[in-house]
Amino acid sequence: MTLSREQFPADFRWGSATSSYQIEGAAFTDGKGKSIWDTFSHTPGNIKNAETGDVACDHYHLWEQDLDLMQDLGLNSYRFSISWPRVLPEGQGRINSKGLDFYDRLIDGLLQRNIDPFVTLYHWDLPQALQDQGGWVNRDTAHHFAEYADVVSQKLGDRVSHWITHNEPFCTSMLGHLFGVHAPGLRDQKFALQALHHVYLSHGLAVPLLRKNSKPDAQVGITLSLHPVYPFSDSPEDLAAVRRHDGFRNRWFLDPLYGKGYPWDTWALYGDQVPDVQEGDLQTIAAKMDFLGVNYYYREVVKHQTGAGVFEVEEVHLPDVKRTHFGWEVFPEGLTTLLERVHAEYRPEKLYITENGSTFQDEWVNGKVLDTDRQQFFAAHLQECLQVLQKGLPLKGYFAWSLLDNFEWAEGFDKRFGMVHVDFETQKRTLKHSGEWFMDFLRVGVVH
Ligand code: NOJ
Repeated sequence: MTLSREQFPADFRWGSATSSYQIEGAAFTDGKGKSIWDTFSHTPGNIKNAETGDVACDHYHLWEQDLDLMQDLGLNSYRFSISWPRVLPEGQGRINSKGLDFYDRLIDGLLQRNIDPFVTLYHWDLPQALQDQGGWVNRDTAHHFAEYADVVSQKLGDRVSHWITHNEPFCTSMLGHLFGVHAPGLRDQKFALQALHHVYLSHGLAVPLLRKNSKPDAQVGITLSLHPVYPFSDSPEDLAAVRRHDGFRNRWFLDPLYGKGYPWDTWALYGDQVPDVQEGDLQTIAAKMDFLGVNYYYREVVKHQTGAGVFEVEEVHLPDVKRTHFGWEVFPEGLTTLLERVHAEYRPEKLYITENGSTFQDEWVNGKVLDTDRQQFFAAHLQECLQVLQKGLPLKGYFAWSLLDNFEWAEGFDKRFGMVHVDFETQKRTLKHSGEWFMDFLRVGVVH
């Protein structure tokens, strides 16, 4: 399979993505406040091997080296997130200028290397001080987020071209408040839906502030994790299960952002667990965006299962399909299916793949990581991006998850997603085969 860079538009964004808690480390340095992930990861039983993001990739200290790596790779964009408690240790009020200065230097360092910053404001590290007041379940948190967005964009808005308010609200709400596997570790359906509603309100409140404080051509959007859902069989029961699961997984998150409110069928299924929605909220949430960021990893195959949770749906693990170290099915064509559907039903002005990547157990050969599986994963998904472009969809960029091996949440350091290997003892970075391949694609222009 040959891929050439010329097949893509000249102004296409090529980037890598990371997030603050997963790479920065320096969890208690230079006045940073505690986040819910500091609390969660230090609570026994939550993270595999009792690991934490205290040090992670120590990117807080090694950022220049990491920026050089991106430049070597030939990337023209970089998606990273800001740690809210590094900037506002209590989540509101007092600004920690040392924390804000870190991002100021980072952005200047990127621009010096001709790499354009895509800044995510919330990639799950809520200030613990706000969690102590109820976190996202408390409506006030939406207003504190708006204050945080205002502070950050006043300082950085003259240089940031793209703002992403939230990363994967599904995970904030459902993994954090329903399944309890992410911070803050709650298990309550009503809390999860209320938290999501406040996350969305915070998004809608932040959009006009980000525009006001940024350069005129700055773009504002959000990043969702979306999954195309397939039926196990074409029985009417399984097809109905697909519809219910799609409501839970995708439509609940897409519809309100595009002025459709919460989907009525899913709303009905939630019964008395639905969130309190105040007058005007849905208008605020539907603030016009410039782009939608989509994180695509895998499809889901589901079937009806009487009595099963979240609307009687069971996820099926098909045999004989290729899977990553996480157990996720490798299904590149799902990317095209997903983006076509999003385009047809919601018409975002622009689309970015803000994350796509895979974890495999890396194999060392002669001092190098020979991650052919990861390289093939990238190649297959870039082929799909070409399909998407050929179909005329407004796809504007692709961000590989991730630049570095990093702290994979509840999985700790066990799952490696990087194009660059990190030795967490020595902090040594080594470009993997997939990274070299990406570099050839971007710099030489043709790869096989
Ligand atoms: C999506 C999340 O945004 C990111 O933080 C995570 O590491 C990747 N998925 C891989 O699971």
